[in-house]
Amino acid sequence: MTNKTEQKIQHVAIIMDGNGRWAEGRAHKRIWGHIRGSSVVANIVEEADDLGLQALTLYAFSTENWSRPQTEIKTLFKLLQKFLVKERKKIMDNKIRFNVIGQIENLPEATVQLIRDVEKETKDNQGLKLSFAFGYGGKNELVVAVNNFVKKNPGKYITEADISRNLYQPDLGEVDLLIRTGGDQRISNFLLWQVAYAELYFTKTKWPDFKRSEFRNILIDVAGRERRFGNIDCQDSLKSNTQLAKGNQRSIGSSTHV
Ligand code: IPE
Ligand code: IPE
Ligand code: MG
Repeated sequence: MTNKTEQKIQHVAIIMDGNGRWAEGRAHKRIWGHIRGSSVVANIVEEADDLGLQALTLYAFSTENWSRPQTEIKTLFKLLQKFLVKERKKIMDNKIRFNVIGQIENLPEATVQLIRDVEKETKDNQGLKLSFAFGYGGKNELVVAVNNFVKKNPGKYITEADISRNLYQPDLGEVDLLIRTGGDQRISNFLLWQVAYAELYFTKTKWPDFKRSEFRNILIDVAGRERRFGNIDCQDSLKSNTQLAKGNQRSIGSSTHV
């Protein structure tokens, strides 16, 4: 991985999709797809850590997923719990900071307790910021953020910075790259605020088949893209700013800031 990649892509978010279809394609129950899918998570976390990413945010369960059958929902809770029990030591050893973003109060008490324990234990870790979006919805996150602000600042105008500061995990910052596995090309209510200028990458690979090598190749591919953030390319922008500055000096004197 080049330095260029490390500079440009710091926060990666992944919509881990395609578990159910992966299983159905093999004449298995959807749940089997989730079980296989959950075993992929640790590899991708390891790869993100090895690549020196600052943050990895994984979409594990959306607010809309509450409408799925109870058995499927329960399996997803159990898999989250199992992941934490199994990976807890590795998370700590690798100085990873773990967080869940979303509303988890309807999860079993033991799972909520485990999540809070691991969050507390890892809160001062300075390595990869690993977040699981669970019971998460982007619209819901914005509603919560705005309400938090309004409660603390009644009557005050809300700015973009105020919204960013009141998100579930404000220090994650903007998403640089959003990957979705499973072949669909949509956002499905994930990190709506944070993906404003994210690069998007959709792969047909279903999540249980997603490998470290594909993850790495996507990062290399995306690192080659030019991110302009509404500007034009850097050289042109430098040139035009210089011209604009000269023009301003000629017409309205040198006190103008450009
Ligand atoms: C993603 O896989 C995991 C969750 C949404 C919880 P799906 O269960 O959505 O799998 P597909 O998209 O139906 O194949
Ligand atoms: C998005 O996948 C949510 C997660 C991966 C957790 P879905 O499978 O729920 O999304 P839709 O329904 O295809 O948009
Ligand atoms: Mg899906």
